[in-house]
Formats: sequence, structure tokens, C-alpha cells
Amino acid sequence: MEKKPAMLLILYATQTGNALDAAERIGRDAERRGCAASVSSIDDFDASSLPHRDTVIFVVSTTGQGDTPDSMKLFWKYLLQRNIAKNWLEGVHYAVFGLGDSGYQKYNFVAKKLDRRISDLGATAIVERGLGDDQHPSGYEGALDPWMSSLWIMLYQINPKFFPNGPDFVISDTTLIDRPKFQVTYLETDKLDLQSSSATGLDRVQMQTGRARFMSPGKVSHIKNIPDCFLKMVLVFSFTTSSVSGHLTGCGKDVRHFELEFVSATIQYGVGDVLEVLPGQDPSAVDAFLQRCNLNPESLIIVHPIGIESHHRMLKAMTQKSL
Ligand SMILES: Cc1cc2nc3c(=O)[nH]c(=O)nc-3n(C[C@H](O)[C@H](O)[C@H](O)COP(=O)(O)O)c2cc1C
Repeated sequence: MEKKPAMLLILYATQTGNALDAAERIGRDAERRGCAASVSSIDDFDASSLPHRDTVIFVVSTTGQGDTPDSMKLFWKYLLQRNIAKNWLEGVHYAVFGLGDSGYQKYNFVAKKLDRRISDLGATAIVERGLGDDQHPSGYEGALDPWMSSLWIMLYQINPKFFPNGPDFVISDTTLIDRPKFQVTYLETDKLDLQSSSATGLDRVQMQTGRARFMSPGKVSHIKNIPDCFLKMVLVFSFTTSSVSGHLTGCGKDVRHFELEFVSATIQYGVGDVLEVLPGQDPSAVDAFLQRCNLNPESLIIVHPIGIESHHRMLKAMTQKSL
């Protein structure tokens, strides 16, 4: 029977997206080396199945005052249960990369406590945890690159099966880096009858379209019985002088000052409340884009994530091509 190839599981927990970017970079770098990897948000992972994994990479950020990202709360609660056996994670190899900011008192607190807890439960660290710091001139990437290099070296020593083509093999083909993650299909509405094989298929498509059209984030209230409140932006300017027409010329951060004015409804807020800024699109810019790309504004667009299976088939083919 054909043996299943070793697969690296990368779990990320993010509040504002950096840990996702870092996890995807680790996943891409692994795959360029011929190592199959799957990247998932930690809340899509069943914590009780952790002992059945042999190698897991955690990429976690710290938010609030040393708090876990929202997506990690259940996972963390699960790990903290008192009745978990001391050797629950025996045989599991793991590595932790944290994203934080050393300007905060509880610097990279989440990565540190996760690392400690997983190790206390009997898992074996592949490398010492890596700590990305916003204060570093290159941001978290300043620590990520050297950490990844050590990770691959140690991982190869622990289990060479992760790198079937050897420790120094790297796919040079840049198309792997730019590979599509989604497949986009356009359906012309007037040809829909032909494209859907049955009336039920057509109904389903129409129902989904109706739902998608209604799904503007601005229309979704998170708390029932509290009306949505819209604010008007009355002033915006950049504190960072290196910003030229919205693009940063240096490697610094883009820091802006916003002033918002209430235009509707009464609003109540307390200390620590978070304001969500949802971008809108200028309809004339949308029209210009559609015209430029010769797209029919009435066509339906189906966006499918490219499945991990087809992705790995593609990776295997590319690996063989490069050898
Ligand atoms: C509101 C807020 C609170 C933060 N609190 C901490 C903290 O307590 N400790 C820390 O090390 N970093 C803290 N950071 C820095 C983030 O961890 C850092 O920017 C990280 O790159 C964010 O990653 P994410 O986008 O995956 O959430 C905080 C950042 C924000 C915006």
C-alpha cells in the first residue's frame, strides 16, 4: 500500500491578518522545498485531534493586553482544561512563531504561553520559538526568515520524509509562488439556462446571488436590537510624510489621522470599544473597472478555493519537473 506523504500542518491565530500572512509564507516556503503543507485558521481545527498530528507549526499573534486573538479563544480554553493528561501530546513535534510588539508590556505573551503549555503537555519542540517584533526595522519578518531556516534544518533532521528531494532542494520555478488560490468562473446571466443542467440548479444559483447581493457588511448588525450607526469621515491626513499618493516610499508605517462625524442614530460607546472601518467602493470607479476589463455587470461570478488535493498534485508535478 502506498504510504501517505508527510504533511506539515500550520495553524495560525490572527487578529488583524499578519499571522495569516506569516503562516502562508511558511507554507509557501515549505512547498518550494518539496514539503507538503496545509495552512488553517486555529478555529477551523479540532483541538481534541491534536495528539493525532505528528508535526504542527503554530503562528500566533498577541492582541489587547497580552490576549489571544478571538479565533484562538476556544482552542486555548481546551488546552487549559485541568483533566488533560500530562503526556497528552507525547509524540507530537511542534514549533511556535509569535507576532507581537516589544513596545507592549506583555510582549508576545500568547506565543510564550502557548509554547509553555504545549511543551508541558509532553510535545517536543522542533526549534526554539521565534518571536516577531513590530519594532524591528523589517517588522516580524526580521525574525521570521532566520527562524524558518532553522525550522527546515531541524525538521529535516527529525523526519527527512518531509523533504523527499533532500534538505537543499528548492523549486526555482517562480510560478509556484504566484499560483492561484481560487478559481474564478464567470456565468453570463442570459446563458444561465444552458449552463445550469436543471431548474433546481438555476434556483440555487439565483438564491445564492440574491443572498450575496444582500451581504454588504454595512448591513449586518453584530448585536440584535442595536441599530447600525454610520459615521461620516470629515477629515483625513497622513502623519507619515514619506507617503506619496497613498504609497509609502520608505519602509515606515502609514499612520493617518481620521475625524468622524455622526450622521445617523444615537451611538453609545465605552472605553475599549473597537471601531470597524469598512471600505466602500466608488460606483463610478467600479463602472470604469468593469468597462476597462470588458466585464458584464450582470454576470455571476463563482469563486472556488482551489482544493488542497489539486494543489498538492500541482506541487508534485512541479517538483518532478524541477528535478
Ligand atoms: C490593539 C492591539 C493590541 C496589541 N497588544 C499587544 C500585546 O499585548 N503584546 C504584544 O506583544 N503585541 C501586541 N500587539 C501587536 C501585535 O501583536 C502585532 O501588531 C502583530 O503583528 C499583529 O498580528 P495579527 O495581525 O496577526 O493579529 C497589539 C496590537 C494591537 C493593534
